[in-house]
Amino acid sequence: MARGELMKKLLASYGRDDEFRVVVEQIIADEEKKNNHVLARSLRKTLENIGSVAPSTGLSRLLPFPDEAKDFIHRVEPKRSAQDILLSRENTELFVSLIQEFRQADRFRRHGLPLRSKLLFCGPPGTGKTLCAEIFAAELGLPFFHVRLDSLISSYLGETASNIRKTFEFARRQPCVLFFDEFDALARSREEAGEHNELRRVVNSLLIFIEQIEPSGFLIAATNLDQHLDPAIWRRFDEVIWFELPDMGMIEKYLAQAFKNSRINFDPAAFAAELRGYSYADLEKLCVQTLKISILDGNRAVTEAHFRNALRHAQRRRRREAQLDS
Ligand SMILES: Nc1ncnc2c1ncn2[C@@H]1O[C@H](COP(=O)(O)OP(=O)(O)O)[C@@H](O)[C@H]1O
Ligand SMILES: [Mg+2]
Repeated sequence: MARGELMKKLLASYGRDDEFRVVVEQIIADEEKKNNHVLARSLRKTLENIGSVAPSTGLSRLLPFPDEAKDFIHRVEPKRSAQDILLSRENTELFVSLIQEFRQADRFRRHGLPLRSKLLFCGPPGTGKTLCAEIFAAELGLPFFHVRLDSLISSYLGETASNIRKTFEFARRQPCVLFFDEFDALARSREEAGEHNELRRVVNSLLIFIEQIEPSGFLIAATNLDQHLDPAIWRRFDEVIWFELPDMGMIEKYLAQAFKNSRINFDPAAFAAELRGYSYADLEKLCVQTLKISILDGNRAVTEAHFRNALRHAQRRRRREAQLDS
């Protein structure tokens, strides 16, 4: 094949590993035919080196991101890993099986079995839905894209569905975790749409895209609503995963972890019963506040008084929030 044609094929294969390799093999064969053995050998060596680097880093190549999506999608670099999240045993098992399935995808595909790739995370705020999605992506070595659904919906009002299509096309081709946060916005919009034809059209086309897409990584949506969630929405997902507020055992575990690098002269587990109803995010704030108070106090150890002080503040805050909600 002419060199120009091979170059074009090489460029077109960008981001698709298998295709890229086939084209490079063709280039090598081509050079060999032309008796350029030194060049052919050196190309082969380079190709082998790519092979040994790319898979072990677990990172996938990035396709160019659709310009139209910049306002509501951004890439997030996960900073935390599996040991930074507390999950129920049930959810841990589920995620382990999803990771296994992703890594063995080819075996399942050979048997014609469908892969689970669309996940819905439900549960109260501050229970780790966003955190878990990020860590999941990091564990899989996939880039993580965060989608703000409310801005996506409003940015599409008055436009065609072609921008949505580009976003989904991206998720189909680029192995990634595409995370739709505040998915409730979709459910709310469906209710509010009523006679608002434009909104209904946008919401419906989003739902159709979700139904039809077969992501090469994962599509994850998160919502704080559970029982209110329209069955028309959740039946489009392969798994619905529940995130709960921590029970006493999990609260104790969280506190132990939060203070594991500090000198501490009381037993935080004694407060677990008092902290029932707190989310992990609430517990995190409480512990961070405790540490700050102890630092300001100039103490080398965290004391019960520091903790109680932070707890009083947290309780006041929760009371105010409850008033706002009611
Ligand atoms: N299950 C958890 N284990 C450990 N920390 C958590 C957990 N859930 C929440 N957190 C802490 O609270 C913060 C906010 O949680 P987030 O993931 O945004 O909750 P959600 O998306 O469910 O509202 C996290 O960044 C993390 O620091
Ligand atoms: Mg969240």
